[in-house]
Amino acid sequence: MAQYSLAKKTESSDIVVDPAFRDDILAGFTAMPKTTPARWFYDQRGSELFEDITRLPEYYPTRIETQLLETHCAQVGQIIGKGRAVVEFGAGSAAKTPHLLRQIDPAAYVPIDISGDFLRESSAVLARDFPGLPVRPVEADFLCPVQLPKELANIPRLGFFPGSTIGNFDAPAAVDLLRSLHWSLGEGAMLLIGIDRIKDASVLVPAYDDTAGVTAQFNLNLLARINRELDGTIPLDAFRHLAVWNDDRARIEMHLEAVRDVTFAIDSNRYSMRAGETIHTENSYKYGLRDARLLLRAGGWNPVNEWTDAGDMFSLFLAEAQPEKLAV
Ligand code: AVJ
Repeated sequence: MAQYSLAKKTESSDIVVDPAFRDDILAGFTAMPKTTPARWFYDQRGSELFEDITRLPEYYPTRIETQLLETHCAQVGQIIGKGRAVVEFGAGSAAKTPHLLRQIDPAAYVPIDISGDFLRESSAVLARDFPGLPVRPVEADFLCPVQLPKELANIPRLGFFPGSTIGNFDAPAAVDLLRSLHWSLGEGAMLLIGIDRIKDASVLVPAYDDTAGVTAQFNLNLLARINRELDGTIPLDAFRHLAVWNDDRARIEMHLEAVRDVTFAIDSNRYSMRAGETIHTENSYKYGLRDARLLLRAGGWNPVNEWTDAGDMFSLFLAEAQPEKLAV
């Protein structure tokens, strides 16, 4: 009816901007050097580009972790027993989950993700493929302790944190995150977590700077997102993607480097950058032979088992929650 068409639809009216995105970007562009949290890569377009990354020949983590899951989930099932609720953190497309669910006969599946649309789509697919399995998605930021559905209160949990997402955090933040997972999962929980290994820079760098340029698009999409959502005027052609191995810190760094002097606005704040200046957009920490075990213990988890491919490219850990220490 005519009266309904009065509600005018402007071009930007359907974009919902997270206020935390705005705060992080404005603070990050004011800092010296400029730096932005990796979590803001994942708008709809960024999530799609990341899915493309996982299929690149140079990007070994997804391929190798999937092989490890295919090979060892039966053993995981033997160790942890039947009837646990599987809680996946940052589930995204949940592409690796079926391997696990098929082997462990879970009581329920609880995918947690901040991207609600992605979460609902992948939950629907999983529920269809596993008839009879209760699927209870929770839209939440797993960096904070998450309240799990009450109906699962007395079911023991298996946390599932694949993909080496932990690599985005420096050691103090990674420890905080592991402790927060411990809190969310509760006493007696176990955790299956994927962690990427230190290896030669000749393998690491191409994994983050592929010949097809997909990772470059993924990185540059952050600037496109700022332009879309925060009324930005950043000329994308003034920036190029950089991936460097920082051996001292054991991390891959992604940057966006200004290829010429450039000025632009974000939300009517003005910024200028010199040619060669960079925006540090991501860290991806890698772990040596014993490093990951140390990290897990520091974060409240005792390693129970570790599975690694023949090339020592990637490790899958099963860990158990340390019992809460009694105050003395
Ligand atoms: C999703 C954080 C595991 O660090 O390998 C891939 C993100 N960035 N290529 C990673 C990423 C560029 C990825 N993690």
